[in-house]
Amino acid sequence: MRSTWLTLALAALAVASAAHASPSLEVGFYKHSCPQAEDIVRNAVRRALARDLGLGAGLIRMHFHDCFVRGCDASVLINSTPGHQAEKDSVANNPSMRGFEVIDDAKAALEAHCPRTVSCADVVAFAARDGAYLAGGIEYQVPSGRRDGCVSNADEVLDNNVPGPTDLVDELVESFRRKGLSADDMVTLSGAHTIGRSHCSSFTQRLYNFSGQLGQADPTIDPAYAEHLKQRCPWPSSDDQMDPTVVPLDPVTPADFDNQYFKNVLAHKVVLTSDQTLLDSPNTGGIVEYHAAAEDEWKAKFAAAMMGNIEVLTGDEGEIREKCFVVNSY
Ligand code: HEM
Ligand SMILES: *[C@@H]1O[C@H](CO)[C@@H](O)[C@H](O)[C@H]1NC(C)=O
Repeated sequence: MRSTWLTLALAALAVASAAHASPSLEVGFYKHSCPQAEDIVRNAVRRALARDLGLGAGLIRMHFHDCFVRGCDASVLINSTPGHQAEKDSVANNPSMRGFEVIDDAKAALEAHCPRTVSCADVVAFAARDGAYLAGGIEYQVPSGRRDGCVSNADEVLDNNVPGPTDLVDELVESFRRKGLSADDMVTLSGAHTIGRSHCSSFTQRLYNFSGQLGQADPTIDPAYAEHLKQRCPWPSSDDQMDPTVVPLDPVTPADFDNQYFKNVLAHKVVLTSDQTLLDSPNTGGIVEYHAAAEDEWKAKFAAAMMGNIEVLTGDEGEIREKCFVVNSY
């Protein structure tokens, strides 16, 4: 199933997603039941990006965090209720996750055209693709037919599911392996950090308290870049999860979905430990170097690796949620 990266790199974009397609999902699943479904989602994403270009990054990350917890079932969209914290309110998602209103906007338009037909899980997968397309011209087909889950627990998010920003390469490889993805997929998908932003709290320990030594910065950060980051992110904002200060994940071309991220890793100009650590193993380091030199291949591999079939619900499993932020009440 998992071909070598070379094969994937050579795959045409149009068929790229087939490498990870599950047999029960299919491209064009809504072609009879809701023919405009994918256009409606793309238009909603287009409207959102006209308002705030950064939302494309938010949507790509949302798909990742959805798929890594209970599979791609839109569990990340469900609101907490009194006495129950949903995934949305895990520290991995709140306050950093953005774009929920884009999904709600798309879903409202879908319900007006074809009620109770298009799952929220498919909307998230389409919207992530559209975010990548509008930010960087990556176009790929998304197999659909996912159903929506009915369970969302905050404490599951960081419990062996979504990896953390201080994880080292072996932990990252293992966390993707648990989801059926290879080390190559992990490096390829980390390239999403070529757009979007990070809150200071995700990396200030690296600037001011490296390995528990106060005043010490991680020696693997380029010193001038570390100084720049310290200006933007004064200590002790790391203690304050709600500090709204953000920096671009890619300081060179922050809004372009290009391969600059991999060049940044090689230049030691990335904010997260989980990005810099990709150079800590010869295998992942070699893939970083390859992507830094071959943008088109990286884009093709990215499209092919985009996670959309992890532990999906299909057929009559789950439900088609009417509103993406709450499970159906009937
Ligand atoms: C390899 C493990 C990964 C780790 C540890 C990780 C961690 C993070 C962290 C800490 C942030 C910043 C959040 C904040 O403070 O605002 C972030 C942002 C982001 N991540 Fe990842 N990430 C990983 C992989 C991925 C993958 C696989 C994707 C999607 C393919 C992705 C897409 C994004 C995007 C687009 C942003 C920017 C979000 C925005 O601007 O709203 N990440 N990631
Ligand atoms: C510095 O790092 C150590 C080890 O990770 C941690 O226990 C300690 O709380 C940190 N200090 C501050 C002030 O954040």
